[in-house]
Amino acid sequence: MTVIVTGGAGFIGANFVFHMLAAYPSYRVICVDKLTYAGNLSTLKDVMGNSNFRFVKLDICDREGMYKLFKEEKPDIVINFAAESHVDRSIENPEIFLQTNILGTQVLMDACRKYGIQRYHQVSTDEVYGDLPLDRPDLFFTEETPIHTSSPYSSSKAGADLLVLAYHRTYELPVTISRCSNNYGPYHFPEKLIPLMIANALADKPLPVYGEGLNVRDWLYVEDHCRAIDLIIHKGRVGEVYNVGGHNEMKNIDIVKLICKELGKPESLITHVEDRKGHDMRYAIDPTKIHNELGWLPETKFADGIKKTIQWYLDNKDWWEEIISGEYQNYYKKMYGERELISIG
Ligand code: NAD
Ligand code: TYD
Repeated sequence: MTVIVTGGAGFIGANFVFHMLAAYPSYRVICVDKLTYAGNLSTLKDVMGNSNFRFVKLDICDREGMYKLFKEEKPDIVINFAAESHVDRSIENPEIFLQTNILGTQVLMDACRKYGIQRYHQVSTDEVYGDLPLDRPDLFFTEETPIHTSSPYSSSKAGADLLVLAYHRTYELPVTISRCSNNYGPYHFPEKLIPLMIANALADKPLPVYGEGLNVRDWLYVEDHCRAIDLIIHKGRVGEVYNVGGHNEMKNIDIVKLICKELGKPESLITHVEDRKGHDMRYAIDPTKIHNELGWLPETKFADGIKKTIQWYLDNKDWWEEIISGEYQNYYKKMYGERELISIG
C-alpha cells in the first residue's frame, strides 16, 4: 500500500505519519506538505531515514505538481490533513483558508480521479456544525446535525466537505470524511490554546483567556484521532461521515487553571482579553456511529493525556522554542536545499 498524507509536517498529520509507519511496516508513507508557518520539518526528523517514508515539499493547490507526484507514486490511499487551521488567523485573513482548504481539496480529488485510488479521506472538524448552547448539555453533534458554520475557517472546511461528498455522488470517488473535536498532544503548534498556555506559563508570561473563558471544547488525545482515521480508511463505509470525539468537555478557563496547577504557576498569570469575534460557545461530539460501526473508543483519559502532554512540552523545549524564535523555518533549507523542489512541481 502506498499512502499519501498531506499536511504531515503539522500537528495531527505528523502524529498520523508516526502512527502509520509503526502500525503498518509494509506501507509506503508519502508526506506532502507546503511547510507553511504551521509545518515544521524537524518534527519528522526521526522518520526521515525510514526507507518506507518520503517527504515532498509541495502545495496541494499545485495541480501540475500533484499530478506529477500521483503519476510517480500511484497512491492507494490519500488522507488530506493539509489545511490552514487556526480560527483567529481566518478572522484576520480568510482568503488563504478558501484557497488551501477548498481549492486544494479539489486539486487532490481531481488527482485521485485522474490516477485512480482506493480511498480519499478528508480530515474535517466538528466546527462545521457551528456551536451548541451552554445551557443544553443534552445536545451533541451527530452526523445528521446541519452544517452551520461560524468562522471563515469552519466555513472553508464545510465547503470542502460538501465538495468531497459531491465528488462521491457525481464521480463515484471512494471518499470518507471524519469530523473530530479539538485535539491535544505532542507537536501541537504553540499558537493553539493548550501549547500556548504551557509555553507562556513556563516563561511566566500572561495567559490570554478570551472573554470569560467559559467556552467549552471537547478534547481528544491526538493518538486517539489517528486510530480513528486508521479504522475509517481501512474499514469505514465509502461515502460516509464519521464524528470522532471522546465526551471530554472542558471550559477553557478550567484547562488554563489546570495547566497552572501542573506547572506550579500562579493563577494570577491569567489575563482575560477581548473575546474572539463570533466565538463558538460549545462543541460536543456524539461518537456513537464510529463506536457502533468500527468499534472505536478513545483510549487516553484527559487527566492522563494532559499530564503526558505537559511532560512532552517540558522534555521537548527545543521543538517549541525554535518555533517561537522562528528558527524552525530554516530547517528545510538546511536539510534539503532545493532538491525536492526540483524533482516535483
Ligand atoms: P496544523 O496547522 O498543525 O498543520 C497543517 C499542516 O498543513 C502544516 O504542516 C502546513 O504546512 C500544511 N499545509 C498548509 N497549507 C498547505 C498547502 N496548501 N499544501 C500543503 N500543505 C499545507 O493543523 P492540525 O491541527 O494538524 O490539523 C490538521 C487537519 O485536521 C486540518 O485539516 C484541520 O482542519 C483538522 N482538524 C484539526 C483539529 C485540531 O484540534 N487541531 C481538530 C479537528 C480537525
Ligand atoms: P484554539 O486552540 O484556537 O482551537 P479552536 O478555536 O479551533 O477551538 O482555541 C480553543 C479555545 O481556546 C477557543 O475557545 C478559543 C480559546 N483561546 C483562548 O482563550 N486564548 C487563546 O490564546 C487561544 C489561542 C484560544
